[in-house]
Amino acid sequence: MARNLKQKADKLNHEEIIAFRTAILNWYDRHRRVLPWRALKGQKPDPYHVWLSEIMLQQTTVTAVIPYFERFLFLWPSVHDLAGAKNEDIMHEWAGLGYYARARNLHKCAKEVVEKYGGVFPSNQDELKKLPGIGDYTSAAILSIAFDKPANVVDGNIERIMARYFAVLEPMPKSKSLLRAKAAIFSKGQSQRSGDYAQALMDLGASVCTPKSPSCVLCPVRSGCLAYAKGIQADLPARIREEKKSRRYGYVYWITNEEGEVLIHKRPEKGLLGGMMALPTSEWKNDIKYAAVDTLSFLSDSFLSDNVVEDYKAHIEHVFTHFHLTLYLQKAVISDCKEIPPSYKWLCVEEVSASGMPTVFQKARDLFLLAA
Ligand code: ADE
Repeated sequence: MARNLKQKADKLNHEEIIAFRTAILNWYDRHRRVLPWRALKGQKPDPYHVWLSEIMLQQTTVTAVIPYFERFLFLWPSVHDLAGAKNEDIMHEWAGLGYYARARNLHKCAKEVVEKYGGVFPSNQDELKKLPGIGDYTSAAILSIAFDKPANVVDGNIERIMARYFAVLEPMPKSKSLLRAKAAIFSKGQSQRSGDYAQALMDLGASVCTPKSPSCVLCPVRSGCLAYAKGIQADLPARIREEKKSRRYGYVYWITNEEGEVLIHKRPEKGLLGGMMALPTSEWKNDIKYAAVDTLSFLSDSFLSDNVVEDYKAHIEHVFTHFHLTLYLQKAVISDCKEIPPSYKWLCVEEVSASGMPTVFQKARDLFLLAA
């Protein structure tokens, strides 16, 4: 499969395209990963499993997803079960997986599949894309993996393989559409083992064509790889240096009442960590001195000065997609609590631990409990 390096990369002939796919599929037959959502060889995949796993795998690693996937299937074995679940139970079970809009869309999508399609996922890309939370990538992945239909599935692994195979020097993310077009060279009009081919590339990207130190000697398509031939594989895909993430600062509170219960907040549906259970916080600002706590004024007119506030000097750090957050820990005891707004409630400590808070608040809770 060795290619003349002067040959235009996208001028592969039919034989070269078939040779690439065959090499990838033969490799997959020997090295495929066993994953809980993946049908075993010769078995039919379950579209519910494929959809659920693909939503969970968006921006999340396989290792992180496995226990969540297994727990969801245990609780909700079918799309009908998931559609009938309480939204707060789904959000609770999603806690820690991040990108919480995915969980909200998951529930909406399950309901729509049940109401509109009788619980049967459509096997058509346009119909799939009309469902909540399903875009270009996920619809292509479901089409190929669940229904074995041809689709151009392009995730981060596949972008990397294409950037290297064709030695695309243009940096990401500008090169995304070019890499899509490169991937399409091998998928367009190819109907043989579509699902296996997509998963084979994902596995190759995860285990051989890895971001750092790729194991090219183990690669079934290295003889055609232009980056390997040029010795530049570890430098691709090129990336424009990311802007440094901005920083935000705030306070996170462990507020207890006379019964020793802890104040918990259900965050507004819209916005970051929307709809999730949380510890109360101040605003998050680019300087701690602007981090106001007006949101807690229902506790008392001047919450901080009226209450016993223990300043722990401790803080937690959390990295979100677009910023880095530092939350300083503060503890307060409220003695004569007035009525609290409906989005707040008092929970005993055990209930706080079981309330399904996102990782940022789990970190704070663990520190508060350690210091208690
Ligand atoms: N990453 C995204 N989807 C995947 C899948 N189906 N198998 C392995 N890794 C993946």
